[in-house]
Amino acid sequence: MLVCHCNGVSDKTVRRAVREGAQSVSEVGRACGAGTCCQGCGPTISRIIRHESHRQAKTSVTNSDASASTTS
Ligand code: FES
Repeated sequence: MLVCHCNGVSDKTVRRAVREGAQSVSEVGRACGAGTCCQGCGPTISRIIRHESHRQAKTSVTNSDASASTTS
């Protein structure tokens, strides 16, 4: 799905930027160009950042649960 129409950036590219460390709309913009023109896609980028952060937190809890069970 195209997230940023101005720069032709897909949700997949935005997700990758977030997974690689971008934590704000401006950081995503620096990483892949999304949101750097009219900023109409800013709310969508924010939603993707929240969703990815939540997903990463869940994965990290799951991983720590797994390592806790292997160490005990
Ligand atoms: S739609 Fe993304 S900057 Fe315009």
